[in-house]
Amino acid sequence: MKTQSNSASSAMPRRRFLASTTAAAVGGAMTLLKPATVFGAEANSRVEVGLIGCGGRGAWIADLFAADGHYQWVACADYFGDRVEAVGNKHQIQAARRYTGLSGYRRLLEGKLDAVVIETPPYFHPEQAAAAVEAGKHVFIAKPIAVDAPGCLSIGESGRRATAKKLVFLVDFQIRANEHFREAVRRVHEGQIGQLIMGDAHYPWRGGGRGTPPDTAEGRLRQWYYVLELSGDFIVEQSIHSLDFATWVINADPVRAVGGGGRKVRPPNSIYDHFALTYWFPNQVPLAFTCIQSIPEVKDEITARWFGSEGVIWGDYFSEVYVRGKDFMRARVDNLYTTGAQVNIREFWEAITQGRYDNPTVAPSVRSNLTAVLGREAAYRQTELTLAALIKEGKKLEPDLRGVKG
Ligand SMILES: NC(=O)c1ccc[n+]([C@@H]2O[C@H](COP(=O)([O-])OP(=O)(O)OC[C@H]3O[C@@H](n4cnc5c(N)ncnc54)[C@H](O)[C@@H]3O)[C@@H](O)[C@H]2O)c1
Repeated sequence: MKTQSNSASSAMPRRRFLASTTAAAVGGAMTLLKPATVFGAEANSRVEVGLIGCGGRGAWIADLFAADGHYQWVACADYFGDRVEAVGNKHQIQAARRYTGLSGYRRLLEGKLDAVVIETPPYFHPEQAAAAVEAGKHVFIAKPIAVDAPGCLSIGESGRRATAKKLVFLVDFQIRANEHFREAVRRVHEGQIGQLIMGDAHYPWRGGGRGTPPDTAEGRLRQWYYVLELSGDFIVEQSIHSLDFATWVINADPVRAVGGGGRKVRPPNSIYDHFALTYWFPNQVPLAFTCIQSIPEVKDEITARWFGSEGVIWGDYFSEVYVRGKDFMRARVDNLYTTGAQVNIREFWEAITQGRYDNPTVAPSVRSNLTAVLGREAAYRQTELTLAALIKEGKKLEPDLRGVKG
């Protein structure tokens, strides 16, 4: 499901570059701790990791963790036995450490391991991440972090608790992991395009399908994407990538959102297939945002652009990023689907072994996820909605899971 993957062909040079620049940046400021002092495994041994959610992305990312060379899969959990077995067999996980059912992840957390990778439907992320931090495990988690405002705030709290407990907590957004995007945003934050005036962000995509929520609870767990309470709708589950880039650049919470959306190609009881919104940021700075899915022949884009008083920044997950202002930069990025995850996997290990618990991916992820939830709720209600009101009302989404195995 979701954005398509590509080959990892261009990953290695970037990873090496990133690893060396990160080490240089960090090395001056802090003394590197011996790995043995910062996580349970012995020095130079691999991080023992457990996978929660063994579906499409879970199985795919399990291979990337294995290829990285710093991790050892020791446990896995999924609601469905067939998925646990597939990942368990591939990564030679002991049969006794393969867990099923909704609460299988809790038994996984009771075992001896250093870290967990959470790749379940977004509804489960806040609960599973909180339990993992409580159990003293480092957390690597898929975006989106949550489907509603209380879930976003819960992840923010888990991130802070992780820091307090000397645990790493990393949210796997790919654009923020790319060194060219990092350089471009650094330039904007340095003032190279002046004061931001307005922006636009877009996520048109051919994929996503035109399905409906199944009638059975187990069916809903398999086809969770079309179930609002499990996915958060596609603006949260998928279009968040462009909102994440946009909010990273402006580095501010939206004040309010207004707009609409609906279903023209998806059936009436499914999630929406298009949204068109205007967000307003502090100082009356607007962001025009659109996203649409399941339209044949559309060129896939995950873009955001900001106009400043002295120039412009534009970037696309699939092609390039540029800044034109007091100075110029432009870089090709190809498709970040694989390379972004590879960088996050490597930086997760670096943070664990170097004892860096500032967990810088958490706050921007809370911000962009709240931005996506705000847009969904403004569109559903056909009214202007402020972020303050969204947070204050504290509305939680609850899926109907009656009948599934506990
Ligand atoms: N580019 C990206 O960053 C990217 C791309 C794809 C997916 N994702 C994210 O990865 C996550 C998983 O997506 P996917 O495409 O692999 O979905 P999927 O349906 O293929 O896999 C999800 C798995 O979770 C299991 N599951 C459901 N509830 C569970 C529970 N309570 N405990 C344990 N297992 C449970 C399901 O049985 C399924 O095997 C989602 O959060 C999605 O948004 C991110």
